Amino acid sequence: LKKTPIRTILLCGLNNSGKTTLLCNLSTDFIEKVGEEVEQVSTCPTVGVSLVEFGQRIGSRVNWRVWDMSGQGRFRNLWSYYSGHVQGLVYVVDITDSDRIAVARDELQMLLDQPRVKESRMPILLFANKADMSNMDGEEGGRDGQGQSKNKSLSLDNIRLAFGVDSLSQHHKIKVLSSSGLTGTGVGEGFGWLSEAIR
Ligand code: GTP
Ligand code: MG
Repeated sequence: LKKTPIRTILLCGLNNSGKTTLLCNLSTDFIEKVGEEVEQVSTCPTVGVSLVEFGQRIGSRVNWRVWDMSGQGRFRNLWSYYSGHVQGLVYVVDITDSDRIAVARDELQMLLDQPRVKESRMPILLFANKADMSNMDGEEGGRDGQGQSKNKSLSLDNIRLAFGVDSLSQHHKIKVLSSSGLTGTGVGEGFGWLSEAIR
């Protein structure tokens, strides 16, 4: 009998980027349900770290063990402590939080500079999250001035540039995906990719 492989990963990103929400809303069809009903989940800011485990139903059979880290400043130093014992990294960025994009980038870089993360060359899944809040037609700086969008959300290209994804990809397998913890967009695809990237 083959044992189900376990994938241990670190889930990081600034506070309020939507990490815990993404995990909660994986439930829909991706994972083994625990109760009968999937309810709209509302999250609280994570304190320190919480461990979430679930089995993946679609794609190859995998059990996930996810360290859901707090993104609050006072807890961010915990990220590197946990990073030495994981096989992959999921980094969540709030595309509507353009003011803190440089902070998000610096915090990721700090993590990637950890010797054990460097050595392991672990794969990175970067979620450009809250895609449900992006400009409806994906237009940026519309020329005709009609319907200025309410938020200045970042496009996938903005995110790739801001994080220097091209240069990161020289050391790590990396995938950037639009996601939404509210609608579930991209989440299953992302974990599916990560599962393959880790093997
Ligand atoms: P910390 O635990 O403090 O690091 O935060 P977190 O990254 O776990 O964020 P959390 O999942 O608690 O979500 C923060 C807020 O963003 C909540 O009010 C969520 O409802 C909201 N949110 C999360 N994901 C999404 C999303 O995809 N779209 C939208 N519109 N809101 C979201
Ligand atoms: Mg959280």
